[in-house]
Amino acid sequence: MILGLETSCDETAAAVITEDGEILANVVSSQADLHAKYGGVVPEVASRRHLELVMPVLREALDEAGVGLDRFERIAVTQGPGLIGALLVGLSAAKALAWARRLPLAPVNHLHGHVASLFLQPDPVDPPFLCLLASGGHTLLLDVQDHGGFAVLGTTLDDAAGEAFDKGARLLGLGYPGGAEIDRLASEGDPEAYEFPIARVSGLDFSFSGLKTALLYTVRELDAGELERRKADLAASYQRAIVTALVARVEQTGADRIAVVGGVAANSELRAALPDAALAPLDLCTDNAAMISSAGRYVEAIPFARYLAVDAYASTAA
Ligand SMILES: Nc1ncnc2c1ncn2[C@@H]1O[C@H](COP(=O)(O)OP(=O)(O)OP(=O)(O)O)[C@@H](O)[C@H]1O
Ligand SMILES: [Mg+2]
Repeated sequence: MILGLETSCDETAAAVITEDGEILANVVSSQADLHAKYGGVVPEVASRRHLELVMPVLREALDEAGVGLDRFERIAVTQGPGLIGALLVGLSAAKALAWARRLPLAPVNHLHGHVASLFLQPDPVDPPFLCLLASGGHTLLLDVQDHGGFAVLGTTLDDAAGEAFDKGARLLGLGYPGGAEIDRLASEGDPEAYEFPIARVSGLDFSFSGLKTALLYTVRELDAGELERRKADLAASYQRAIVTALVARVEQTGADRIAVVGGVAANSELRAALPDAALAPLDLCTDNAAMISSAGRYVEAIPFARYLAVDAYASTAA
């Protein structure tokens, strides 16, 4: 069995999976409420909360799986990218657990973790496939040839798709995180009410910052009453623009096996727009430790004691 920990952003998560990818426990404690009043994640607040939550969340996962620490072959943990203070809490906890049990430690790239959400039971998807990873911090087109990694074909030049949802939600006065709020409100609105721009970027890259600015200007033109009346139409049109941009890029690749992962993969319009794609299960789209444990099966684990000096990294940029 594999124990996994994830603390890269504002979810404190622990999971237990088997070598075949069966999930025995998947506990996620979201700090979203804590950060809502700031309209985004405050890194120092997140780190401190991870410190308080990491052991209780771990204990809950062990209880739920009904196993003790003696049952594990390895400990998987998110090494990066993410908030450095937040990452260090999970990494330190994982090192301590692995060291105490003389286990190997599997350091996982969080993005590999999102891809590996597809490799879990009951319906595992095996590579090769083209993968759209759309989350709060990333929008990537990935060529996934095997379970162990990926090659980047395209990325966002500015905001991530999830970030565009979150910033749009903020402009519309909706809660944080905004993706799910826009998704819900959009179902009551007309997606053709407003025409928002879809960035023309060469190759397979993305750009969402112009879209956010277009929404800002549109909202500015409306008085409070009008904004309230048109909110659902604005949400629906804005969501339509993001989804159209994502789907266009995926289709442009001409790939016949397509997968979608990350928080934005939970979006109902995106899911409906790609009926033939393999979609990450809804509960595994946003951050969780089951996906980190899953990726941990395919990375080279560092043997006992050699990992004590391993560091976290905030970004994957070389
Ligand atoms: N139904 C939805 N529709 C659109 N966006 C959504 C939906 N549900 C969640 N999101 C978005 O998903 C994002 C969170 O996803 P995730 O947890 O994968 O990102 P992250 O871990 O913060 O970023 P990264 O994985 O890039 O480090 C948020 O931006 C949120 O608004
Ligand atoms: Mg994530």
